[in-house]
Amino acid sequence: MCGIIGYIGKSEAAPILLEGLRRLEYRGYDSAGLAILNGTLSVRKCKGRIANLTDLIGREPIHGDVGISHTRWATHGGVTDENAHPHFDESGKLALVHNGVIENYQTLKEQLLSEGHHFKSQTDTEVLAHLIGKHFEALGGEASGPRLVEAVRAALKEVTGTYGIAVMHEAVPETLVGARRGSPLVLGIGKGENFLASDVSAIVGHAREAVYLRDYDVVTLGRDDFEITTLDGGVSGFKVSKVEFSEDDVNKGAFPHFMLKEIFEQPESLQNAIRGRLSVEESTAKLGGLNMTPQQLRDIERIVLTGCGTACHAAMVGEYVIETLAHVPTEVEFASEFRYRNMPMNKDTVVFAISQSGETADTLAALRESQRKGHRTLGICNNVASTIARESDGGVYMHAGPEIGVAATKSFTSQVAVLTLLGLLLGRIRHLSTSDGIRIMEEMKAIPEKVREILKQNDRIKEIAHKYAYAKAMMFLGRQFNYPVAMEGALKMKEISYLHAEGHPSAELKHGVIALISPEVPSVFIAPDDSVYDKNISNIEEVKARKGPVIAIGTEGSSKLEKVADDVIYIPRCPDYLSPLLTVIPLQLFAYHLAVKLGCDVDKPRNLAKSVTVE
Ligand code: M6R
Repeated sequence: MCGIIGYIGKSEAAPILLEGLRRLEYRGYDSAGLAILNGTLSVRKCKGRIANLTDLIGREPIHGDVGISHTRWATHGGVTDENAHPHFDESGKLALVHNGVIENYQTLKEQLLSEGHHFKSQTDTEVLAHLIGKHFEALGGEASGPRLVEAVRAALKEVTGTYGIAVMHEAVPETLVGARRGSPLVLGIGKGENFLASDVSAIVGHAREAVYLRDYDVVTLGRDDFEITTLDGGVSGFKVSKVEFSEDDVNKGAFPHFMLKEIFEQPESLQNAIRGRLSVEESTAKLGGLNMTPQQLRDIERIVLTGCGTACHAAMVGEYVIETLAHVPTEVEFASEFRYRNMPMNKDTVVFAISQSGETADTLAALRESQRKGHRTLGICNNVASTIARESDGGVYMHAGPEIGVAATKSFTSQVAVLTLLGLLLGRIRHLSTSDGIRIMEEMKAIPEKVREILKQNDRIKEIAHKYAYAKAMMFLGRQFNYPVAMEGALKMKEISYLHAEGHPSAELKHGVIALISPEVPSVFIAPDDSVYDKNISNIEEVKARKGPVIAIGTEGSSKLEKVADDVIYIPRCPDYLSPLLTVIPLQLFAYHLAVKLGCDVDKPRNLAKSVTVE
């Protein structure tokens, strides 16, 4: 959702800003723009892709070594050139880009209108630009960096809502100002140049070090220095971190899409999720980041797992796995529901907020609500610098590396792997024996290689996907551990191919879903050789009897499927509780190839944002 990049240095700003915007494309956007200072402020902005902005700048070049830029995902005001950022104040000398929502913008706008301000857009952001400009004028005196920072602080104190902003002023050419509350913002530190970005991926290759700003931080950037203070002007404690990613991590490499690259990264990302977390001596998992003693872990009476979209599907798998391995009652709730629901929870309930980005607004709100009620709330995040990672009482990092494709792939398997480690840990301090622990650990260690085996079938899965590209809709069906995988398979299909897809427990077919079955509506059955294999076979027969085509995901050597399904994709044998880590891989590839065949932009699906930072 919305992306910011700002630059102050000695190089031409426009190419750096455009490259950064391209790297932020995955966040989702509908328009883009930039403003550059070279004596006076010049702006170029337009709706549509970054390519449109690049063309515009090609036709109307813009030069200078200080600038701010933005990708907008519309919230207030339609998708128009006028509503694209940057926005200006009344004087036209101050430019601002903003992520987040200014909730009291109507009230502020009315006040500003009554004072003679004129607005060009329908956005809440333009109101903030005017407000900062108004304070800048009111402060008077010499135009300087401190005066601009003071104006930013004064305006932000009047604002309710969320923001990550970058601000520049024609009269203060040596300074950029940034601030955040609720929307991520990173300061990138270079040599003779500094950056602001909503995501570190935008500045990889330019900045070697970064400061992940905290809520209420205000940062002033010069070419050679920076200062971070609080909204009240106090000292902000901050930490300079190394930018750990390389340009390879944030580029597609030889792959046509990030999504395909990330699907193929899963042997490594799964390895990274379990690396160093399996103790041979104790035959259990080690999750030190939970910050809990063995006794505290033993005292857990109930677990609530919360997240959105794919993270919620991973949580659903986690519910089955934790209950199977540890016998701890576990429940899953969408974060968007959890935050407003008054769930009765006893004091020994532990809540896990699961989020790849660590910035999803609903998941963050669920975490805060749970903490408000006094529950230990832990995070399972990929982004180590994220708000959820910072605010949780402990947790487990996924170590999956940057996930840029909007469709979550490797983050799902990493989340499931982490939840399985949790199940093993909790099981071992309850009822599982040493030999149970060793067996589970050995099976987990074998998973990355088994994923590699499945990936070798990519060409065949592509053929099958193309065969079914005629479909009008698709059903995804599975039972037990693979019911959530059916949900995840359907989500992957609909979000990148725009094909209507539904995920259900196979047995629910007869309770309504079967009415949708027809030759134009294929069903994908996730039917590994597990405790419900024969039940799934019966459900497949029911679909076939109604002329519904069937694609099945089965276990190598389980021959019954060949007789009932039209096409079968095989996974290597593994225990039931680990099967989601394997069965989901063909579904990711299936959705990917079908979407590409339909000509869809898989890395940037319509209407979607990678990280949903507004409610
Ligand atoms: O960053 P998060 O894991 O919190 O994101 C949650 C969902 O927005 C995300 O999984 C979304 O459903 C994906 N686009 C699914 O592929």
